[in-house]
Amino acid sequence: MGAKGHPARFPAKLPEFFIKFLTDPGDLVVDIFAGSNTTGRAAEDLGRRWLGYELSPEYLAASAFRFLSKDAPAARLQEVYAAIVAGESVDLRSEAGLLGLAAE
Ligand SMILES: C[S@@+](CC[C@H](N)C(=O)[O-])C[C@H]1O[C@@H](n2cnc3c(N)ncnc32)[C@H](O)[C@@H]1O
Repeated sequence: MGAKGHPARFPAKLPEFFIKFLTDPGDLVVDIFAGSNTTGRAAEDLGRRWLGYELSPEYLAASAFRFLSKDAPAARLQEVYAAIVAGESVDLRSEAGLLGLAAE
C-alpha cells in the first residue's frame, strides 16, 4: 500500500497528560499539526471530542488506521488510505466505537 509511519510521532503519554490536566470529558481538543494524530487518538480514548489538521494527505490517510478496528482486513485499510489520499472523506465512526458526535 505504501503507507509510511510518521517520522516524528510522539508517545501517547504526552498528549494524555495534557488532555487530562487541561480538559474535561466532552471538551474539544484541537491539534493543528496532527501528523499521525496521536493527540486525536488520546483524546478519543479519554472521552474528549477532537479536531486534527494535517498538511500531508499521506500522513492524514495513515492516521486513519488508528481509528479502524484492529480486525479490519487489509483491503479495508487500502480502501480508506486510497480514498483519503484522493481527497475523499471517509466516515469511520461506526468502525471503531468512536464517540459518534455527528452533526445533527
Ligand atoms: C511534528 S509533526 C506532528 C507529529 C504528531 N505529534 C504525531 O504524534 O504524529 C508535525 C506535522 O505538522 C504538519 N504540518 C506542517 N505544517 C502544517 C500546516 N500548515 N497545516 C497542517 N499541518 C501541518 C506536518 O506535515 C507534520 O506531519
